[in-house]
Amino acid sequence: MANKCYPTVSEDYEKAVQKCKRKLRGLIAEKHCAPIILRLAWHSAGTFDVKTKTGGPFGTIRHRDELAHEANTGLDIAVRLLDPIKQHFPILSYADFYQLAGIVAVEVSGGPEIPFHPGRPDKNEPPPEGRLPQATKGSDHLRDVFGHMGLTDKDIVALSGGHTLGRCHKERSGFEGPWTSNPLIFDNSYFKELVSGEKDGLIQLPSDKALMEDPVFRPLVQKYAADEDAFFSDYAESHLKLSELGSLKYTECQHLDRPIPSLSSHPYSNLSISRPFFFSFSPSLRVFAMAEAPASPGGGSHESGEQSPRSNVREQDRYLPIANISRIMKKALPANGKIAKDAKETVQECVSEFISFITSEASDKCQKEKRKTINGDDLLWAMATLGFEDYIDPLKIYLSRYREMEGDTKSSAKGGDASAKKDVQPSQNVMLAHQGSFSGFSYGNSQ
Ligand code: HEM
Repeated sequence: MANKCYPTVSEDYEKAVQKCKRKLRGLIAEKHCAPIILRLAWHSAGTFDVKTKTGGPFGTIRHRDELAHEANTGLDIAVRLLDPIKQHFPILSYADFYQLAGIVAVEVSGGPEIPFHPGRPDKNEPPPEGRLPQATKGSDHLRDVFGHMGLTDKDIVALSGGHTLGRCHKERSGFEGPWTSNPLIFDNSYFKELVSGEKDGLIQLPSDKALMEDPVFRPLVQKYAADEDAFFSDYAESHLKLSELGSLKYTECQHLDRPIPSLSSHPYSNLSISRPFFFSFSPSLRVFAMAEAPASPGGGSHESGEQSPRSNVREQDRYLPIANISRIMKKALPANGKIAKDAKETVQECVSEFISFITSEASDKCQKEKRKTINGDDLLWAMATLGFEDYIDPLKIYLSRYREMEGDTKSSAKGGDASAKKDVQPSQNVMLAHQGSFSGFSYGNSQ
């Protein structure tokens, strides 16, 4: 997660976030409404569908249609409670506002601090009804529902710890009663109660009990019951994921449809992989697509103090040299043709991103196969997997000629090192024409 890139917002927006956070702390503490505010944030985000990239924390829950979903009964109260604060901060999107409120609710009631990164745009289209989990069902259903969000078994158990707060209301869900004896305190008592069994006056929903019945969930419940720090740490991580579904990890860009791998823990972390973040432009937020740029001085988006490990990555390690880009582009121009700086930089961004994208996919494959070195075949496989099939046939020819010329026959056979040892330097006579656009690239001085 630490390698994620976030959109930058204006200094005014960032200031509003900080001020709004203070107001939210006051309101939630005064009204003792942390539970319902947390539930609002969770129900707003939990509709995300990773396949269709619909739903999610984009403020749609403010609309009557979505509030009318059966699972959201009672959440109109939370929307109304928060509304006076929202009116003070028109600059903020509802999407950011509700997720900020959820994070503050956890914090104010004694839970872990959860980083907040602004930049979610508001959307208008509510998700279809029926995406949130049902309390009467078991672990298969939980896996199914959270799986659609792109969340894991660990996320399910850690996030269920949200039931350390609040209670069931007969008129809202048909169930009645709190999960713990201190429903305004965020601690690990929800898990302690699950482990110690049912008690008079406290509730355990069928979906809560499922956590104790499932062989994968149960050890996590026991761990969190025994170790509050472990719960807080996993909860903070899962809540951050939940609050960023569909916006920060998954982008509007069609091909970035899977989580950004964590480079810091990646066996190939020495590879210079970057995943520039294409974010949907939102005029009201003044959100900019940001390719790992360091946070803007005096008002960056890394309010949590979470350090981007990339902030000290050199420009030349993230992008192909602009001079090379320029030379390649010029080849396609008439003698008097010129290329604007923004055009070069756009291509630079795009090509660099493309390299990261396919390398990352190939790297996952190598990791699964327990190989250390990515070879040309891995990259071709990655390209085919990621939808660049049209390029594969000519590239196969290229790769085979390259290997012939280099006398390299080993790498494809045993996943050897040859193709990774050096940058690909197609010789002048190995030029492939594909769709009129493919020509010899030289990335020779890019390292
Ligand atoms: C795992 C699947 C889940 C199911 C089936 C479920 C179901 C429910 C139900 C039935 C209620 C009672 C609503 C009412 O009667 O007012 C409730 C309340 C609540 N849920 Fe969940 N929930 C789940 C996950 C979560 C998650 C992931 C969170 C937060 C991270 C969460 C936070 C809460 C809170 C704080 C309340 C109390 C609201 C209040 O006191 O007004 N729940 N949930």
